[in-house]
Amino acid sequence: MWKVSPTRLEDMCTAIMRAAGAPGSDARLVADHLVDNDIIGHHSHGVIRLWDYVEWAHHGDLIPGARPRIFSETRTTARIDGNWNFGQVVATFATGLAIEKARAAGISVVTIRRVKHIGRLGRYAEQVAAEGLVSMLFTNGGGHGINQAPFRGTERKLCSNPLAMSVPSSLAGPFLLDMATSVAAEGKVRVYRARGAPTPAGWILDSDGNPSTDPEDFAEGGALLPVGGSEGHKGYALAFMVELLAGVMSGGGISGDPGRSFSNDSMVIVIDPELFVPMAELRERSLTLTEHLKDTRLADESQPVLYPGEKEAEARLANRERDIELPDPVRQQLLAMLQRFSLPEAELVSSG
Ligand SMILES: NC(=O)c1ccc[n+]([C@@H]2O[C@H](COP(=O)([O-])OP(=O)(O)OC[C@H]3O[C@@H](n4cnc5c(N)ncnc54)[C@H](O)[C@@H]3O)[C@@H](O)[C@H]2O)c1
Repeated sequence: MWKVSPTRLEDMCTAIMRAAGAPGSDARLVADHLVDNDIIGHHSHGVIRLWDYVEWAHHGDLIPGARPRIFSETRTTARIDGNWNFGQVVATFATGLAIEKARAAGISVVTIRRVKHIGRLGRYAEQVAAEGLVSMLFTNGGGHGINQAPFRGTERKLCSNPLAMSVPSSLAGPFLLDMATSVAAEGKVRVYRARGAPTPAGWILDSDGNPSTDPEDFAEGGALLPVGGSEGHKGYALAFMVELLAGVMSGGGISGDPGRSFSNDSMVIVIDPELFVPMAELRERSLTLTEHLKDTRLADESQPVLYPGEKEAEARLANRERDIELPDPVRQQLLAMLQRFSLPEAELVSSG
């Protein structure tokens, strides 16, 4: 494993994206997203993703610097064309617009299409919660990134179609559900592969449809299973609904009718909770709920009951100042990208 400070890692990623053509503020924003994901332990959406982004930019699939365009809007809705820029840039813009509209009108629905990987959905749900608003997000792969089997199927047919929801809280972080509809995000299998470790049982099938724990089997054409184990119809049904809300409703691609290339087509819904309940009551009652659930006999004394989002909020507080540990293949990728653009930090990474 390679240890690196968050600041140095963010500077390196920013430099790489600038060299790949991104304006400085976009490069910094994407780097901040990736490094924050590593800080909170979501390495599947950390700097491990940068390689793909640089390759996409190189092949013209991602257009650094392209500005998102609102191609139609009402007081409560907007349809955004991401113009194939970095997903983090487009989704941050779309979420900001949804926040603005919900502040003015109480609720908003914004769709996004033609946008590259938006990363961890929780980041946008956190952006909304920080404004005292409630969010729901749905994202597909635009008919690409096919890696999940439908319930009762044995082959890849869908993307891991994530969804997120947030409610503001007075705790360390917002109440935040942020999940793939497959049993785990595809990037988590990548992380196991990079570490040379087996995946937990029940995550993947090999390309013949047999259960497997070897991440190489997934890489060679296997499939992720829908969330829910033997009750996988629920994860699959959620993934199906995400295709409709994020793909069909945005005018983007869907499984079976893909767009030009991988696109995290999305729907962002923002609600002003104070139209329904005063903020003080929302905070107080959600705290009562949390305390009620935590006050229980535990299956394992070392594993307390958590509220959704607690793990990420606590990890951010605990790890912010600590070095990040990354597997060697990720260091090698960073080194290759720094060398490709003749960036001076290459020496540091090669000796790291
Ligand atoms: N952009 C994309 O195309 C894409 C695709 C798939 C997934 N993703 C992202 O991948 C990330 C990981 O997804 P995942 O499904 O593997 O997430 P996960 O299984 O790590 O977490 C899912 C949710 O469960 C909550 N949680 C975890 N432990 C808990 C506990 N003990 N008690 C209560 N709640 C708990 C977490 O706070 C989180 O909200 C997400 O951020 C998701 O947005 C992105």
